[in-house]
Amino acid sequence: MSFPTGFLWGASTAAHQIEGGNVNSDWWQREWGHLPGAPVEAPSGDAADSYHRYPLDMDLLAGAGLNSYRFSIEWARIEPERGWVSRAAIDHYRRMVDAARARGLQPMITLHHFTNPVWFARDGGWRADDAVDRFARYAEAALPVIEGVDLICTINEPNMVSVLADPQVGFPAVGLPPGVPEVTETLVEAHRRAVEVVRGGGGRAGWSVATQAYQPQPGAQAVTAEYGASREDVFLDAAEGDDWIGVQAYTRTRIGAEGPLPIPDDAERTLTGWEYYPPAVGEGIRNAWARSGAPVYVTENGIATADDQRRIDYTRGALQTVAACIEDGIDVRGYLHWSALDNYEWGSFRPTFGLIGWDRETFERHPKPSLAWLGSIARADGNGL
Ligand code: FCB
Repeated sequence: MSFPTGFLWGASTAAHQIEGGNVNSDWWQREWGHLPGAPVEAPSGDAADSYHRYPLDMDLLAGAGLNSYRFSIEWARIEPERGWVSRAAIDHYRRMVDAARARGLQPMITLHHFTNPVWFARDGGWRADDAVDRFARYAEAALPVIEGVDLICTINEPNMVSVLADPQVGFPAVGLPPGVPEVTETLVEAHRRAVEVVRGGGGRAGWSVATQAYQPQPGAQAVTAEYGASREDVFLDAAEGDDWIGVQAYTRTRIGAEGPLPIPDDAERTLTGWEYYPPAVGEGIRNAWARSGAPVYVTENGIATADDQRRIDYTRGALQTVAACIEDGIDVRGYLHWSALDNYEWGSFRPTFGLIGWDRETFERHPKPSLAWLGSIARADGNGL
């Protein structure tokens, strides 16, 4: 199987899920009941302490053979109070960029991955009149971090952010809710403003959409099209003219005449309760490419499992469908696996997505065989899949 020259082989993370101590974010505050939200099984706490241990994490990724690392920078740390920018936080994230490069990992930076500063949430979040200005100002404040970084993701999974605008909604096992229409509009506007800021700083901007591999059952074509329009397509369409589009895929959703169908009883399920379905990523790429026409990066794809061999099976199956897209002429430029580390999965540490495990007491890292496997595929430019 051939992957294009310069193809990015990497892994992804999000700040709140691995850094630990993200006390000034709305998620931390929700975890402790200080802001409204659905109760969580466990708070994020120290998470994987990657705020301090990122050099080691990067050593492991680069040492295995990967050539890129996607991570997010935390708005709540950079602008902990409205209008006040922490030089120390900016310097911290800039050190991460330099540390990645020094190891031969091309950094890809996400500006917003679900979490907001507490003040932003308290002032109305994405529903506030000046939400777009606030986000654009944050992007400008982050310019010293992203200067010279090629790939910047403005907002991770805006379709999920739109759903999470209602704090009572948790992560669904099947059938993503439609989102809040006015929040969707605001997110598209915020994205457009951030794209300008990023381009002004010399970077290439895009955003990453949670693609759902909606599959119409016989006679449910129209229902499926309508179902996908507000949940996925509006965000892919908004990426037209962007420098790239990110695809994030995990499972499929079959749609019948009445809407999403339950996962069949005999289907294999992962630790998140999602159906084991490796081709989801290929289907996501095809829809993203058809709608946006932008070069595609797979910015997340993976499986929550305690069986690392199953992680390898899933990833091999997924990559085979990525290769098929490339063979069909789709401009796919990278595959970044979710996730580099086991992490705080928005309420619980149980769903383990990581290529690297770690000890809950000592934080000692335990790379899994899947990391070595993905690294060997990367070193071989995809041969051996
Ligand atoms: C995506 C999120 C990511 C992680 C994976 C499993 O929706 O972007 O943070 O939770 O799902």
